[in-house]
Amino acid sequence: MGLTTEEIESLRRIGAVVAATIEEMRRHLEPGITTGELDDIGRAVLNEHGAQSAPELVYDFPGATCISVNERAAHGIPGELEVQPGDLVNIDVSAELDGFFADSGASFGVDPVDGDKQKLLDSTKEALEKAMSMARHGRPVKMVGRVVEGLAQDRGFTVIRNLGGHGIGRKLHQKPSFIPHFYDRREKRRFSEGQVLTLEPFLAMGARRVDELDDGWTLRTENHGLVAQFEHTMIITRGEPIVLTRRSDEEF
Ligand code: CO
Ligand code: CO
Repeated sequence: MGLTTEEIESLRRIGAVVAATIEEMRRHLEPGITTGELDDIGRAVLNEHGAQSAPELVYDFPGATCISVNERAAHGIPGELEVQPGDLVNIDVSAELDGFFADSGASFGVDPVDGDKQKLLDSTKEALEKAMSMARHGRPVKMVGRVVEGLAQDRGFTVIRNLGGHGIGRKLHQKPSFIPHFYDRREKRRFSEGQVLTLEPFLAMGARRVDELDDGWTLRTENHGLVAQFEHTMIITRGEPIVLTRRSDEEF
């Protein structure tokens, strides 16, 4: 399928490390912990496995992981911010081991989570699962956007258009570049066996774009409304994709 057994094994290894890192950070997610403390926990898991933070390695990001709270969608810098009851906290971990990269993210609600926030979380997770079921050899890439945007509209949410899935493997970002999670009729590519890529829909309450804050990293929704994201790294096959970053604490 274009990948050797050794390459697949290496991808599985870093995928499992990324999954374990998010899982451990989630275990410590509670009111009062700072995003900096959560990041330290994530860094320790990466170190333990000999893995390196991809945002640090590739982009010189000021943190081992990206932690984005409420209206912040992505690339949130870990720091003094204390997690509060009712927050939506997105943890996005990407890392490198033996020359291979994996990338995964998930949004978690900190209790008590009201009905609208829970609906946003559940819908975004469902959107990722549906998107993954579309991603197989020979299928048009635009089917991902069609199912994600359709689901979002049904539930009363919007899709962030200026963030997308991406190829990954020997690099954090490689071909295929930008995979839209909205329906783009001009999108002509097809998935092919052996591609390694992420899907990572962001669903929001009214926003269709994110903008960068003055810190030069954090991406916030244009209307300052809530947003959620779920992301997995997978290998495209002729059937269901091989998901490399599945966590053991994941409900799906
Ligand atoms: Co990510
Ligand atoms: Co990604």
